[in-house]
Amino acid sequence: MTVAETIKKPVTKQVDPSKIMQIGMGFWASKTVLTAVNLELFTHLSQGELSGLELKEKLNLHDRGLYDFLDALVALGFLKRRGLKATAMYSNAEDAQVFLDKNKPGYMGGILEMANQRLYPFWNNLENALKTGTPQNETKTNGESVFNTIYAYPDRLREFIKSMAGIQMGNFMKLSNMFDFSDYTTLCDLGGAGGHLSAQITLNNPHMYCVTFDLPQVSTIAEENISMMGLSEKVSVLSGDFFYDEIPKADVITMGNILHDWDTNEKMVLMKKAYDSLPQGGALIVIENIIDDNRSQNTFGLLMSLNMLIETQGGYDFSAADFNVWARKTGFSRTIIMPLTGPSSAIIAIK
Ligand SMILES: C[S@@+](CC[C@H](N)C(=O)[O-])C[C@H]1O[C@@H](n2cnc3c(N)ncnc32)[C@H](O)[C@@H]1O
Repeated sequence: MTVAETIKKPVTKQVDPSKIMQIGMGFWASKTVLTAVNLELFTHLSQGELSGLELKEKLNLHDRGLYDFLDALVALGFLKRRGLKATAMYSNAEDAQVFLDKNKPGYMGGILEMANQRLYPFWNNLENALKTGTPQNETKTNGESVFNTIYAYPDRLREFIKSMAGIQMGNFMKLSNMFDFSDYTTLCDLGGAGGHLSAQITLNNPHMYCVTFDLPQVSTIAEENISMMGLSEKVSVLSGDFFYDEIPKADVITMGNILHDWDTNEKMVLMKKAYDSLPQGGALIVIENIIDDNRSQNTFGLLMSLNMLIETQGGYDFSAADFNVWARKTGFSRTIIMPLTGPSSAIIAIK
């Protein structure tokens, strides 16, 4: 074939299959990172570089997969490396050093530890969840709520609360700084878990007083956190069940990743309770992975909704358009959306 003939031939666009492999085999990368977190690899590297052999000793690993494991983490961008194999010195990448060292306040590994221990095996039954519409976690056999089931074990309770804080901390900081609290003085965080949202709001808005409201099993952890941060004068911890007990009156009610745990009727009950507790002009602030109205962009929000299929009896994530319908039905006058970190947003309904 001559050069001239090659040029005349119509150029056909080659369809690229790489996304299929990358996502289809994505569990390889995911499980490699989850295992590294579980082994506390990034915590071991937080004080400085270590060789492959030093890591082998510290993590109690076999020779065979050692360099493939460590170098896969280099390729995935979680580790940095000088040298090769026997001469290699490994260190944490910048984000791993800040967010995956267990001894740093910004540690985000709690959610990854929980993903490794609970979600990874439960997601193996996604097909069953899709066919039956039923949860695939611990509640599969006992029919209890996921919270009662996890909270029956003190170590799982602590792990769960820590992991919630890990996912939401960036959002809590951003909301506390971006939302204008100047017209308000009191706030109640429904399902406030370890009290981290209330803590961030009072730290960044010293005129605010907050109540963090959650189930009784959670109160000791919230009290410990609030007292450790020296915020006991600003944040009170209140125990109760937001479906059965009265919730405190406040200028602002917040709910972080609460509505997605529940079905439509339960979502509406919680929104109505929040509405009744607010004064005229008060704000309900919902912090979630709000799905885009066209349901095609916020992948994490859509996958989180599948996670709610695995974890809850009727929960699901939602779009701003969905929320607006519920807010209008409840009586709120208007809603505002405020993007937070990554796939998360705050959606604010004003009474
Ligand atoms: C998904 S976690 C979200 C925690 C926190 N708001 C956040 O944004 O990370 C749901 C929280 O709701 C609390 N919760 C569940 N059912 C509750 C109930 N009936 N009454 C009060 N709190 C409840 C749980 O204990 C848990 O802390």
